[in-house]
Amino acid sequence: MTPMSYSRTEITAEQIRHEQAVCDALRRRLTEGGTHPLALVDTYGCQQNEADSEKIRGYLERMGYGFTEDEYAADVIVVNTCAVREHAEMRILGNVGALVHTKAKKPHQVVAVCGCMVQQPHMAEKIRRSYPVVDLVFGPHDLWRFPELLQQTLEQHRRIFAVSPSDGVVAEGIPLHRQGSVKAWLSIMYGCNNYCTYCIVPYVRGRERSRHPNQVLEEARQLVLSGYKDITLLGQNVNSYGRDLEEPVDFADLLRSIDALDGEFRLRFMTSHPRDATEKLFDAMANSRHCAHQLHLPVQSGSNRILQRMNRHYTREEYLEKVALAREQMPDLVLTTDIIVGFPGETAEDFEQTLSLVREVRYDAMFTFIYSPRVGTPAAKMPDPISREEKQAWFDRLLETANGISVEKHHAYEGKTVRVLIDGKTGREPYTLSARTDGGRLVHLRGDASLIGTFQNVKITGSNTWALYGELQ
Ligand code: 5AD
Ligand code: SF4
Repeated sequence: MTPMSYSRTEITAEQIRHEQAVCDALRRRLTEGGTHPLALVDTYGCQQNEADSEKIRGYLERMGYGFTEDEYAADVIVVNTCAVREHAEMRILGNVGALVHTKAKKPHQVVAVCGCMVQQPHMAEKIRRSYPVVDLVFGPHDLWRFPELLQQTLEQHRRIFAVSPSDGVVAEGIPLHRQGSVKAWLSIMYGCNNYCTYCIVPYVRGRERSRHPNQVLEEARQLVLSGYKDITLLGQNVNSYGRDLEEPVDFADLLRSIDALDGEFRLRFMTSHPRDATEKLFDAMANSRHCAHQLHLPVQSGSNRILQRMNRHYTREEYLEKVALAREQMPDLVLTTDIIVGFPGETAEDFEQTLSLVREVRYDAMFTFIYSPRVGTPAAKMPDPISREEKQAWFDRLLETANGISVEKHHAYEGKTVRVLIDGKTGREPYTLSARTDGGRLVHLRGDASLIGTFQNVKITGSNTWALYGELQ
């Protein structure tokens, strides 16, 4: 397979060493006289952003920062943003604006805003003009040089904006500060080439870039050795993994090679584009030792007319065929999806098609969204005559249908014994522990916190729309 022609920029080991040297220099300065600087990293959006925040924290930790949740205590606040819907952007801007209060009390506080939202030129401009509280702005392509950007901000006493347009970079060797010790994110690729007409992601995260399989495998090996029990492989579209690499490797091959690692761990991945989800992938999942029988397969709409206008490259029938194939290989498959309601030009008839697809597939859980126009995307220019009220009414019906199905599916677990990974505390009596089934469903149970990080058999005794309740066996 010939690699696609675009400029994949590899950040060299030398460049990352330089950033680490900047961290070390900052550390000497910031911790002088025994002071302990504090940082707060606030993350919005998807798991890819969570993974990016682990890199930001990794750099900050190397600079000598400890972490706090208190914005009045933080010397540096980093807001890692999302651009996928307007609602997220409004919340972020409101929260960033409110930082004038903390900065008034702590004038040396540095406020940095990074991530997808600020990679959009109009948003970077908005922050430049209307949010003087922000000292540093950098996009996803500049994350690898966060240390030097923070150093400039601290030393030059001027605002720094690093949001240059880019097809995207691949940077290995950035230190990571992982959240938690049971579950881990593992990015296998970055960016997206699909250009669904509603979506901002390809514009802000660049073209698809796969990490080298040896790098991914080595990181997975380290995670297993360090005791992580649940590894989620991340990419905007994991099914196109490897297409841009020289070596002939695809996602199913990668999954198989990680599955060959010894140890007690569970392997998941997201997100899959239905067009590229293959029989080979389902086969690799079904015949693996570690891979959860769980698939997040966003359908977006049940209407062929809308799927075409969304540029999704599959029909309702093709999607249903893939679902049938996956379920044939894995009868216990837990299937989830994303759906957009009120795409421009969607009619009541199109919406009924979506409802009927949902009733036919019977997802275990669904993530539903009302369409939000994104600046610069093709859909934002399409006529959109349906009122917000009508879209909301469709949305409510969809949610009701989805919740009804989740209740029934959860109810069917009652009386059964399932294997779960106990992954944390709920903070609520009497079901103080939280856990996930192999398929990723949430379970609340009673037990001692020492069980966190262990696999256990649990008898399911109750359920609702969102969770299962169980007793240790
Ligand atoms: N409006 C509403 N929902 C969107 N999504 C992506 N872009 C938009 C948009 N412009 C949804 C899709 C995607 C999920 C991550 O967010 O359903 O799968
Ligand atoms: Fe993640 Fe997309 Fe939001 Fe960026 S815009 S944080 S890629 S969901």
